[in-house]
Formats: sequence, C-alpha cells, structure tokens
Amino acid sequence: MTEAPLDADIQKILFHEGTILARLDELAAEIGRDLAGREVTVVAILHGGLIFAADLLRRIHLPVKVETLSVASYHGGMRSTGSVTFNQMALPDLAGRHVLILDDILDSGRTLAAIRRRLESDCHAASVRSCVLLDKNAPRAEDVTVDYRGFEVGDEFVVGYGLDYRGRYRNLPYVGVLKPEAIERRESGPSVAAGAA
Ligand code: IMP
Ligand code: MG
Repeated sequence: MTEAPLDADIQKILFHEGTILARLDELAAEIGRDLAGREVTVVAILHGGLIFAADLLRRIHLPVKVETLSVASYHGGMRSTGSVTFNQMALPDLAGRHVLILDDILDSGRTLAAIRRRLESDCHAASVRSCVLLDKNAPRAEDVTVDYRGFEVGDEFVVGYGLDYRGRYRNLPYVGVLKPEAIERRESGPSVAAGAA
C-alpha cells in the first residue's frame, strides 16, 4: 500500500530548509570562533539530532571527530515522559576532548541535563558545550546550559528535519506542525523506531 506524501500531513511550516541552513552557517561560524585552534568532538544525539548534526558539522571548519549517543525521553508520544534512558551501556571515550553535544530540540530540558551530567561525571572531557536546533518555549523541568541555539519555537509539537512523531517525518527537509487528523491517524497505527529520541 502506498501512503500519501508526508507533506500532506503538515498544517504549517515553521522553518524552511533554506532558513535552517542559513542559520546553521551562523552557528557554525560562532562555534568556529569559540573553539578556534582546537579539535571538536561532536556528540550527535540520536535519532532526532542526526540531520541537524550532519548539516552543521560540515559547516564547522575545524578538525572534527564524530560520536553518537542514543537516548530516549519521548518514547513515541508527544510529551516528555520524565525519564531519560540511555540506549547504550558504554559512552564514547571523550577524555580530554572538547565536546559539542548536538540535539534537535530543548523541551523540558531533561534529556540535555541528563546527558551533560553523565558526560561531566563519567567522561573527563576537557570542555562540554551544547547546541540545539530548536529551543521550545516550554516549562523546564531542569535547569540546563545551552551554549548555542538555532531558533525559538512555541510550545507545540513539531516534526521534520530529524524530529519525529512515532518514528516518522524525520526526513522532511523543513520543520513544521502536524495536522490534528494526521496525529489521530498515526495514534492508532504502528510506530517505527519508538524509544529513540
Ligand atoms: P526534553 O528532555 O523534554 O528536553 O526533550 C527533548 C527530546 O524530546 C528531544 O531530544 C526530542 O527528541 C524530543 N522532543 C521534544 N519536543 C519535541 C517535538 O516537538 N517534536 C519531536 N520531538 C520532540
Ligand atoms: Mg532527541
């Protein structure tokens, strides 16, 4: 069975691809200035930060190493569950490195706070910075430091450019808001790769 194009499920586009990429140029320039002369170890938070990381790290004109970390906090729904699960036992070896955590969106702050805590206590990095594509104007459950942010968004659920709803819509090139009927339809259907943020 073929499905309708994903675009048909989008109510409004918040950030077009060109707008996102132009902002990534600015973020990469700022990061390049702040970390000049150093090697950066990017830690991309999977799955949501995958596309953001791929586009941003190609714009950073410094030596870059890439690691990934898979964590889950939404577990397939539309609200943060309150628990952050690390999907792998071992963390990458970050001792002495200048770490730049890249995640798709800051919502309650729990995910980034949990990651920062673990990296700072277990990894002996030389420095830890974080960068999110989107900063949601939502109540924070945790105080968390974010060094770089792409755009602010209102307190609504967004998809695209890496962000999913029940595992889908990550491959849309823009960030947008789903139509209510698409949410209802997907609520009753199977979710793919639920459990990874
Ligand atoms: P936090 O722990 O509540 O800050 O949530 C952060 C994580 O939840 C992000 O890394 C995303 O994976 C996911 N998330 C938060 N808001 C949204 C959204 O609007 N759309 C899709 N995923 C989201
Ligand atoms: Mg995420």
